[in-house]
Amino acid sequence: MQFKNVIAGAALVGAAFATTVNNSTLTTATPSVGSGCSFSKFTATASAQVAQIAACATAVGDVTIYGAAFGNIDLTGTEQFYGNLLINNATQVSAFNAPTLELVSGELTFNGSTILETINLAVLTTVGTLTISACSQLDTLDLTTGITSADNITIADTALTTLEGINVVELKIFNVNNNKDITTINSGLQSVTDSLAISYNAQGVNVTMDELTSAYDIYLQDVGSLSFSNLTTINSSLILDNCQFESLEIKNLTSIGNALAITDNSVLTDISFPALTTIKGAFTIENDDDLSVVDGFPVLKSVSGSVVIDGSLDNVTFPDLTKVYGSFNLTSTGELSCSEFEKENKDLTVAGTSNCVGKTDSTISSGTLKSSSSGSSSETGSSSSGSSTTKKSDASSAAVAYLTPFLAAFMAVGAAIY
Ligand SMILES: *[C@@H]1O[C@H](CO)[C@@H](O)[C@H](O)[C@H]1NC(C)=O
Ligand SMILES: *[C@@H]1O[C@H](CO)[C@@H](O)[C@H](O)[C@H]1NC(C)=O
Ligand SMILES: *[C@@H]1O[C@H](CO)[C@@H](O)[C@H](O)[C@H]1NC(C)=O
Ligand SMILES: *[C@@H]1O[C@H](CO)[C@@H](O)[C@H](O)[C@H]1NC(C)=O
Ligand SMILES: *[C@@H]1O[C@H](CO)[C@@H](O)[C@H](O)[C@H]1NC(C)=O
Ligand SMILES: *[C@@H]1O[C@H](CO)[C@@H](O)[C@H](O)[C@H]1NC(C)=O
Ligand SMILES: *[C@@H]1O[C@H](CO)[C@@H](O)[C@H](O)[C@H]1NC(C)=O
Ligand SMILES: *[C@@H]1O[C@H](CO)[C@@H](O)[C@H](O)[C@H]1NC(C)=O
Ligand SMILES: *[C@@H]1O[C@H](CO)[C@@H](O)[C@H](O)[C@H]1NC(C)=O
Ligand SMILES: *[C@@H]1O[C@H](CO)[C@@H](O)[C@H](O)[C@H]1NC(C)=O
Ligand SMILES: *[C@@H]1O[C@H](CO)[C@@H](O)[C@H](O)[C@H]1NC(C)=O
Repeated sequence: MQFKNVIAGAALVGAAFATTVNNSTLTTATPSVGSGCSFSKFTATASAQVAQIAACATAVGDVTIYGAAFGNIDLTGTEQFYGNLLINNATQVSAFNAPTLELVSGELTFNGSTILETINLAVLTTVGTLTISACSQLDTLDLTTGITSADNITIADTALTTLEGINVVELKIFNVNNNKDITTINSGLQSVTDSLAISYNAQGVNVTMDELTSAYDIYLQDVGSLSFSNLTTINSSLILDNCQFESLEIKNLTSIGNALAITDNSVLTDISFPALTTIKGAFTIENDDDLSVVDGFPVLKSVSGSVVIDGSLDNVTFPDLTKVYGSFNLTSTGELSCSEFEKENKDLTVAGTSNCVGKTDSTISSGTLKSSSSGSSSETGSSSSGSSTTKKSDASSAAVAYLTPFLAAFMAVGAAIY
């Protein structure tokens, strides 16, 4: 998937997620079927071969439906498919019909079907991984009954305006990217155990996930508004990049297991994480052009990685922050006074180098907090306003060690998306 410039899409509906949910577990026990319904690495390139599959209420195997020989693909008759069912590069297909299909135990993939407009999965409830990608004309996805059990769902590069019918409680992966007509994502998901990524859909897509209580990685890009009112735990990282919201509040979030990055959000003026007490990785606020005050972390006590904050900042306060185990780097082109910052945050101890560069004054001090992985670090915390001490403490190597997992996590998420 490539980066795409996104033009704001047409009007659209929300991806509504019903509240009635079944937590049926994925059925992976493969039944035995007659040889006529057992397909081993079967590639269907003609309608007669698709009909062979449709003749089986229960089919087993791995099937790829591929090529330019189909107008429509009709799987009416197949109810359960144990294995992987891939519809790839079916370039003349405008409609995929599987109105009786309830289950696909492995992957169900639609890729590169460039004129496909309609997918009918009206009674599908259970799927291992559903991937729809590179189907740029797809505007109708019929999930009337609704998917209640799935591991992973990726919807990328379609013309869908809505994602109704995804009623899963917990997913490993939920990835919605490059769907330029999806302007609202409203999901009842309660937990995402691997990656939740929403990027490059309609510019300013409105995201509401008020049932979500925990997630592993969250990556949001080009989002216009965000509501995560029940989110309490992020086990890995939260990255908010290039979004269009003016204010950001995640009011019940108490801990972040790795990094928090709030970057390149050009109109963001207000950040509020009123319950957040710990960030166990790096903490970055950068290139948010309109941000002048950072005061939305009233109970943040510790950051296990490094802190990097820059911008046209007038005031930065962390009233409860006492421990930063990496380095601390605050750079402002605004009215912020580094000596005022030090006074107002006098309980802050930093293991690595602490560096503040303001328009009027700067402060640099070596580490004061003993870091588990660092050697000796100064216990005195000498700090001199206006000085330009360049002395480095040994602890700065600890900061690098903390930073590395953040970068790895960022790249892993990025790789999953592009
Ligand atoms: C959910 O489960 C109930 C019974 O447990 C069943 O009647 C209903 O059809 C199921 N709904 C779906 C969407 O599978
Ligand atoms: C939901 O899952 C729990 C725990 O796995 C199980 O005890 C319960 O019976 C399930 N409920 C339904 C409706 O399947
Ligand atoms: C599908 O088509 C694309 C673009 O035309 C091509 O790059 C890709 O290799 C094709 N995939 C397969 C499995 O043939
Ligand atoms: C999907 O199709 C696109 C273009 O046809 C291709 O570049 C991409 O590799 C395909 N992805 C998968 C998972 O097959
Ligand atoms: C879901 O995605 C994860 C991570 O890529 C993978 O390990 C898992 O096998 C997938 N599940 C299914 C049913 O394909
Ligand atoms: C997140 O961490 C909590 C507590 O450490 C744990 O109970 C939960 O299962 C984890 N969730 C994920 C998605 O990893
Ligand atoms: C998101 O919601 C706001 C406020 O309702 C609206 O102005 C904006 O157009 C929405 N975003 C999109 C992409 O439709
Ligand atoms: C938040 O979660 C609680 C249970 O943990 C639930 O009762 C409540 O409805 C959820 N709130 C929203 C807005 O979804
Ligand atoms: C979220 O926080 C509010 C108070 O700010 C509290 O009333 C509510 O119960 C919390 N919800 C959850 C799910 O923790
Ligand atoms: C910065 O903000 C804090 C808390 O909002 C306030 O007490 C302090 O006076 C402000 N400092 C400056 C220099 O404006
Ligand atoms: C602090 O951050 C600024 C801006 O991000 C950067 O230019 C500078 O090199 C950093 N300083 C240190 C000591 O890391």
